[in-house]
Amino acid sequence: MDFIIGKVYEVACAELRWDDGRIYVIPVIDHYHADPQFGFPDEHYHIDGRFEMEPRMHHQLRVADGRTSAVIVKECGLYELIRIFKRPVKCTGTSTGLQLPESGENAALYQHWYESYVGKICKGRRCPHFGVEMLETEGKLVCPMHHLVADRHSLRVLPL
Ligand code: FES
Repeated sequence: MDFIIGKVYEVACAELRWDDGRIYVIPVIDHYHADPQFGFPDEHYHIDGRFEMEPRMHHQLRVADGRTSAVIVKECGLYELIRIFKRPVKCTGTSTGLQLPESGENAALYQHWYESYVGKICKGRRCPHFGVEMLETEGKLVCPMHHLVADRHSLRVLPL
């Protein structure tokens, strides 16, 4: 689905109780999973940076251009995840995804994992990893979770 900036959509959100007792709501992609293959062994939800969130959370979760290296887990030192639910939230951007490490062990693991998907088909414009709907960005299909990129005509995942 193509979201339009400024319009409001019913989207999945994580309700968090922060360590100061305040409640915050963070838009997420409703797919709970772990990524041990590139260094994220804890189960988590991805933040959907296309949607509005409190400025404090935007800062705390280091969201830039809709992307962030932060994910939502059930419990950590900062917050407790109360529930996942749907609510209307304003679209503020068109791109989102995990901000991946550029160097180090996790970056090497990610590259290795990514290469195992090169050439795979995004059937129905869905990601061959977890079946998430791909976004169309600058003429390419891009997964909003772990950033597999595919050709929009052949639907095949492109090399990094
Ligand atoms: S769901 Fe992982 S890259 Fe698409």
